[in-house]
Amino acid sequence: MRGKRRASRSHAHTLSSNSCNSLNSFIDVALCPSEIRRFESIDLSETTAVVFDVLRATSTMITGLEHGVERFFPVETVEAARARKVQDPSLLLAGERSGIPLEGFDLGNSPAEFKEIRGKSVVITTTNGTVALHRVRRAKRVYVGALLNLDSLAEVLDSEDSASVLIVCAGTGEDFALEDAVAAGGLVDRLTHDSLSDAAVLVKSLYREANADLPSYLRQSRNGRALAGIGKAQDVEECARLSATQTVGVMKGDAVQKLT
Ligand code: MLT
Repeated sequence: MRGKRRASRSHAHTLSSNSCNSLNSFIDVALCPSEIRRFESIDLSETTAVVFDVLRATSTMITGLEHGVERFFPVETVEAARARKVQDPSLLLAGERSGIPLEGFDLGNSPAEFKEIRGKSVVITTTNGTVALHRVRRAKRVYVGALLNLDSLAEVLDSEDSASVLIVCAGTGEDFALEDAVAAGGLVDRLTHDSLSDAAVLVKSLYREANADLPSYLRQSRNGRALAGIGKAQDVEECARLSATQTVGVMKGDAVQKLT
């Protein structure tokens, strides 16, 4: 596909030995937390980052923004979340550890919980999703991705003519998570581009295979099974709905907001 996006020379040179020093657009994928850490030492000032934590942190944020949540403040630790609430008691506290809502918090991390809190701002801490957002927050732009908003997200990225795109799969603990890779592949499949990293080619193929039945892919993933095991099977079905909303979330400072 012929791309509009122009590649960042430094990003392409550093990350893609098979890009033939091309100045054309470049899409790369960080497949798991150890790869996300690798990008901490790389200049992302010309890169647009998209973070996927399909089960469930980024799906939850997109659902909340769609239903009128003002802002999400993603923080890495439970302590940081509590401290933020002390500074501003009007904030709601949300998040999970091992999928379970945290003691004393207002909300867990199920998308459905965020449909009824219009006008509120939420501090959220989750095991991987909010950590991944922090790791790439110095990128030129940081978007929140989900299967829920894939078409609209791709339209926004294609309209922006970014130098390079880094898709970040938040993973589970230190591990690769199937559902994040499937969603990353769905985005690669939709974007115009000139050059893909090997990881981008891989996830695109995975998506083309999974696309026939996304809910079943999510159900068989480690996270899908874990959520079913704690009575959250309905969350998996919610998060598997492809392009169900036009809401796009973008980081502005330390907050995730709806792109208007
Ligand atoms: C995470 O950030 O690791 C996930 O969102 C976990 C979950 O929702 O249970």
